[in-house]
Amino acid sequence: MNVSFRLNGEDVTATDVSPTTTLLDWLRETRGLTGTKEGCNEGDCGACSVIVTDDSGARPLNACILFLPQLQGKAIRTVEGISAPDGTLHPVQQAMIDHHGSQCGFCTPGFITTMAANHLNGRTDHDTALAGNLCRCTGYAPIVRAAQAAQSAPVPDHMHDRLPQPSGRNPQEASSHPTTLDDFADWYAANPDTTLIAGATDVGLWVTKQMRDLGQTAFLTHVDGLRGVTVRDDTITIGAMTTLSDLHPVMAEHHPAFAELIRRYGSAQVRNAATIGGNVANGSPIGDGPPALIALDATLHLRHGGRTRSLPIADFFIDYGKQDRQKGEFLTHITLPRGTDHLRCYKLSKRFDQDISAVCGCFWIEVAEGAVKTARIAFGGMAATPKRAAMAEAALTGQPWSEDTARAAMAALAQDFTPLSDMRASAAYRMEAAQNMLLRAWSEDQGAPTSVLEVRA
Ligand SMILES: Cc1cc2nc3c(=O)[nH]c(=O)nc-3n(C[C@H](O)[C@H](O)[C@H](O)COP(=O)(O)OP(=O)(O)OC[C@H]3O[C@@H](n4cnc5c(N)ncnc54)[C@H](O)[C@@H]3O)c2cc1C
Ligand code: FES
Ligand code: FES
Repeated sequence: MNVSFRLNGEDVTATDVSPTTTLLDWLRETRGLTGTKEGCNEGDCGACSVIVTDDSGARPLNACILFLPQLQGKAIRTVEGISAPDGTLHPVQQAMIDHHGSQCGFCTPGFITTMAANHLNGRTDHDTALAGNLCRCTGYAPIVRAAQAAQSAPVPDHMHDRLPQPSGRNPQEASSHPTTLDDFADWYAANPDTTLIAGATDVGLWVTKQMRDLGQTAFLTHVDGLRGVTVRDDTITIGAMTTLSDLHPVMAEHHPAFAELIRRYGSAQVRNAATIGGNVANGSPIGDGPPALIALDATLHLRHGGRTRSLPIADFFIDYGKQDRQKGEFLTHITLPRGTDHLRCYKLSKRFDQDISAVCGCFWIEVAEGAVKTARIAFGGMAATPKRAAMAEAALTGQPWSEDTARAAMAALAQDFTPLSDMRASAAYRMEAAQNMLLRAWSEDQGAPTSVLEVRA
């Protein structure tokens, strides 16, 4: 397979590459560009951050879990391309020197590329934007000071990457499958053993950590019409290939609690790659999207050849690793009913940023004339699948919205779930945390501040 893209301002073609060659391996082993570091090789540390530009803008991504075909027709800038062609340092490079932002230096190339991407995009929420870059020795204060010092400097001209010439943009070059939605649906129905790859934030690890041979692969990034969000009067339609980063601003407007959950999802680099479709389709019991989507009463839309079907998302998750998806069938989009927002979401993880949930609880509690009219409650981390809390919902529905009712529903949660103990949390801790989330939903509704971010000494 050949893949064409722009690399540090130069059009290049990677020839005869395997579809599961990661950008990190190719940069280091084939191009000798060893500035991009391998720390964890699983998307956790940001040492391998590069800037990728496509027609929706420039963003930092982790090169270690990015397969070359995902880059067809795009522009990549590595740490070697951050200073100007004449050697002049980029403002973030100079600021890192001035503010002593580097000690051993292993994390520094990743920080520099992420900081340069943020500088290019005018991002100044440095704590959030740099949460995916880990540093063991310097400490974050000097690095954040450097980012702040550089933020108002002009963007150097060479940082505005243009995309490769149209001849290099033909996605067929990097895909062995059709690229229109109709043709792809027929092709996949006829090739149902193919591994679908969306953002590769799960699939990438099957290769880099589990050393799995994926067999035939299909990159959904090359299929038209699967990406983007459309807001209509009565529905919000989310394409399966919409990244968590692209979903965030829409949810910030319509369901802020979901947006806040997305903000704590992985890191900026992970959110820039991960798609909502992949987050649902993988069926993980600890994925953050499904509990929110269940509470929002989302509908999934699947396609198999020329046939389409829809189902409530809660019915999609059958058992651990088993979803209601036939061979050759794929998720095209998700719809949400549009209306007044009643969503609350709470994510509990060992670290605040860049961590998978131990428990994630999402609550849609609609109250009319003092009584609970509708209760949709879903948890991640409490069962083998993301799951609705039917007994707790029943304990709430039709009852006065009071602390006593909330406590009765908390007790009912013990009938809904038998959580497991694992490295993230014990079963007893999970149950108590889930119950307390329900009380938190009630307390918050009464106006009490409950977020650690709102508590001040
Ligand atoms: C460092 C790191 C941090 C993470 N943090 C979080 C977190 O905080 N919260 C969280 O929920 N997850 C987290 N994840 C997990 C991961 O990001 C998500 O599950 C992600 O949404 C998967 O989406 P993707 O597009 O990368 O899917 P991929 O890895 O490309 O695919 C995942 C699975 O879904 C299938 N698939 C993808 N799209 C479709 C489709 N349209 N139709 C049918 N099947 C499809 C693929 O074949 C594969 O089986 C993290 C991952 C990493 C590496
Ligand atoms: S090497 Fe750690 S995120 Fe890529
Ligand atoms: S400077 Fe050593 S890891 Fe950051």
